[in-house]
Amino acid sequence: MIKPSIRRVRRAFLAVGATAALAAGLLTAAAGPSQAATQGPCDIYLAGGTPCVAAHSTTRALYGAYDGPLYQVRRASDNATRDIGLLSAGGYADAAAQDSFCAGTSCVITVVYDQSGKGNHLTQAPAGGAAGGPDNLANAVEAPVTVGGHKAYGVYVAPGTGYRNNNTNGIATGDQAEGMYAIFDGTHFNGGCCFDYGNAETNNLDTGDGHMEALYFGNNKSWGSGSGNGPWVMADLENGLFSGVNRGFNANDPSVSNRFLTAMLKGGPNQWALRGGDAQSGGLSTFYNGVRPNATGYNPMHKEGAIILGIGGDNSKWAQGTFYEGVMTQGYPSDATENAVQADITAVGYNSGSTGTGTLTPGSRISLRATTAPCCTSHYLRHDDADNKVVISDTDSSSSATDKADATWIVRAGLANSSCLSFESANNPGEFLHHYNYELYLDFDNGAGSFAQDATFCPTSGNSGVGTSLQSVNFPTKYLRHYNYTAYVASNGGPNSWDSGTSWAADTSWLVAQPWS
Ligand code: AHR
Repeated sequence: MIKPSIRRVRRAFLAVGATAALAAGLLTAAAGPSQAATQGPCDIYLAGGTPCVAAHSTTRALYGAYDGPLYQVRRASDNATRDIGLLSAGGYADAAAQDSFCAGTSCVITVVYDQSGKGNHLTQAPAGGAAGGPDNLANAVEAPVTVGGHKAYGVYVAPGTGYRNNNTNGIATGDQAEGMYAIFDGTHFNGGCCFDYGNAETNNLDTGDGHMEALYFGNNKSWGSGSGNGPWVMADLENGLFSGVNRGFNANDPSVSNRFLTAMLKGGPNQWALRGGDAQSGGLSTFYNGVRPNATGYNPMHKEGAIILGIGGDNSKWAQGTFYEGVMTQGYPSDATENAVQADITAVGYNSGSTGTGTLTPGSRISLRATTAPCCTSHYLRHDDADNKVVISDTDSSSSATDKADATWIVRAGLANSSCLSFESANNPGEFLHHYNYELYLDFDNGAGSFAQDATFCPTSGNSGVGTSLQSVNFPTKYLRHYNYTAYVASNGGPNSWDSGTSWAADTSWLVAQPWS
């Protein structure tokens, strides 16, 4: 049962050479009855003398010996809940358990369990000074990935979504030292305040400068920024997102857009550091390492020890992002320990979870060919150049790479009903096909309850007798249709021009084709 973990650790050691050898040495020094048979990030932090006091992941165990639940889901059909655990101790999430529990309905993530034994679980965030609550819970199928080749789901934070724990155990307070890392989807962000993971106020209010110490990811420029146009990893220290020693701009903090992004922050008495890297390969870069900001209010710090995910300290909940795993430590981790953690992360193998091609199976990459003759049989469903509207256009092997990618979709389990389907853009990860006013658009989930419904389509045999038709889950008389080269959900006869009965059956029938990219 533990073979996959052993292979994973062996890959990590081969990949990082000296760094891993350091981690191995540290582990030997820390050997004892509770030592894990294999290691995860928290075993590495423990060996480095900075143990995890919070360890959250919906994708994998963060200790080699962890064998408890990772998270809890609640399904819409009967409000029942189910803990989702591991395939084996120290291994990967049992995503199939979620899939079967949520079959035919939708699920939200209600709890992200703390694996550290400190009981620092994350649950639905309450109202705060900046915004009411309770916040929304994440749709459980909206961030599918593979980890070590195993299917798993991340925590998809649409604006309005937030998790919190105000009653923690062992998290740094005052000016005490701590470290933290998180793996985010580097392509899912916005400029809203504040997609955070880390230490915050215990009363959901902005209690002043230095009362937070959390990782931030996004392109908010209200307080600070780095080079380029973002997004940036920054430190949310309350009333300020810090990219370095200055309150505003710090050139050394780069724009980062890795599909899987490792973000790291640590802070102690008059010192802090911000680091980051590609969670799929390579090491960490240091974006800042030095004294506390040269702005008053942040030295000493006044950390309060709550934990937030997806929101600001005062429950500012206008940001979006995706979280896969993260931990918080007691003490200031060494760079060597963090490097060994990054080696573990890159060895574990995060991937975007698109596998097969050409079939309507979640995970498959496809293109959808129109069937209406003679106009449109070489036309494919695609989003437009502005990544906004959805149209059909002629696509063939000589089309540009961008046009091919615009016409390629990743099939996902239906956001509102896992027995149906949703379609994620291949070149705009995290953005889904959805209808609005019956016209088709490409967008991130905006957190409104209706988005999942508007983005879910149930496949039926083609209305014309050819191929497949895609029935809107919330308007069952309407099917995905092209009309005048634009995509709609349309009924066979109705008030809108695109409901015209002429060619309706052909216009709503699609051939599932090999993906153009
Ligand atoms: O520091 C930036 C944000 O400012 C915090 O997250 C929030 O509490 C306040 O609005």
